[in-house]
Amino acid sequence: MKTRILGIEGTAWNLSAAVVDEDDVISEVTETYQPDTGGIHPREASQHHAKYASTVIQKLLENIKSKGIDPKTLDAVAFSQGPGLGPCLRTVATAARMLSLTLDIPIIGVNHCIAHIEVGKWKTPAKDPVVLYVSGANSQVLAYRKGKYRVFGETLDVGIGNALDKFARSAGLNHPGGPRIEKHAENFKKYVPLPYVVKGMDFSFSGLTTAARDALEYEAMEDVCYSFQETAFAMMVEVTERALAHTGKNEVLLAGGVGANMRLRDMLDIMSNDRGASFYVPEKRFMGDNGAMIAYLGLLMYRSGSITGLKDSHVDPNFRPDSVEVTWI
Ligand code: ATP
Ligand code: FE2
Repeated sequence: MKTRILGIEGTAWNLSAAVVDEDDVISEVTETYQPDTGGIHPREASQHHAKYASTVIQKLLENIKSKGIDPKTLDAVAFSQGPGLGPCLRTVATAARMLSLTLDIPIIGVNHCIAHIEVGKWKTPAKDPVVLYVSGANSQVLAYRKGKYRVFGETLDVGIGNALDKFARSAGLNHPGGPRIEKHAENFKKYVPLPYVVKGMDFSFSGLTTAARDALEYEAMEDVCYSFQETAFAMMVEVTERALAHTGKNEVLLAGGVGANMRLRDMLDIMSNDRGASFYVPEKRFMGDNGAMIAYLGLLMYRSGSITGLKDSHVDPNFRPDSVEVTWI
């Protein structure tokens, strides 16, 4: 008998719910919040999630029923417990608690960063990789060691996605800025020196973002976009390489929405090849925030006996991946 878990994601702009089993995604329904201008407003995003939570879940339950699955036979409901925007997390947790009560199934709170890693391992041949997780709010280099996913290096200020989006705004580009910067960078003519900040195993993007904004006054947009990418990505690739050397692992996995960037993929691929390591990127639908990754980590936790329970289902906007006891490896 297969295990079937329903998972709900909603740490930021994406509200997404899915049912998975060991083999695949059975169904996924997503409703994306699109801010009119600028970045995400936490309260507006949470209002969006509250508005659509019941439709998204109802649609998902209809979908699985049409595939012959009775919602009452689901084994558990998993949700993103953090890290993320407080108001959004609370909305999603409330929906998950309701489902747990109405379907009378256990509730499992999962760490959003680890869900990105596990879905990547599920959907690529990677078994024990060094992971570069790059999204709007997060930028971390992680790898499994002795019962935990350790953070080997991370941003000291903003996530790379937020840095790209912020720079894009100052350059007059629409949100989300990442893909637009990538497009402009393709037409570069020269590299403009920008601050490269790696401290120990950590990196920082705020000085780079300010310097890039200033550089726009006297350098071409294409050149600044290109140089921003080259500098920021090289910092993260350097730390990923050092984590590979340190851990002795021979796989690299890219996760998170910024992983859509082809230049970042190229740089990681070249570095991995140079070290004799394999480089893996999951299909795009599993890179940005998605319900399937939450359901899948819920499945791993369920099968290894990690049930959260209602009384411990409070959210944690700063939930660290290295605080989680990994029971499933
Ligand atoms: P998290 O909650 O994990 O921080 P998130 O809400 O930021 O996730 P993601 O889908 O993981 O969502 O990432 C969104 C970010 O990815 C945005 O900052 C966007 O600019 C960036 N991005 C998307 N495509 C590209 C690209 N091709 N190149 C660079 N950045 C990209
Ligand atoms: Fe994410």
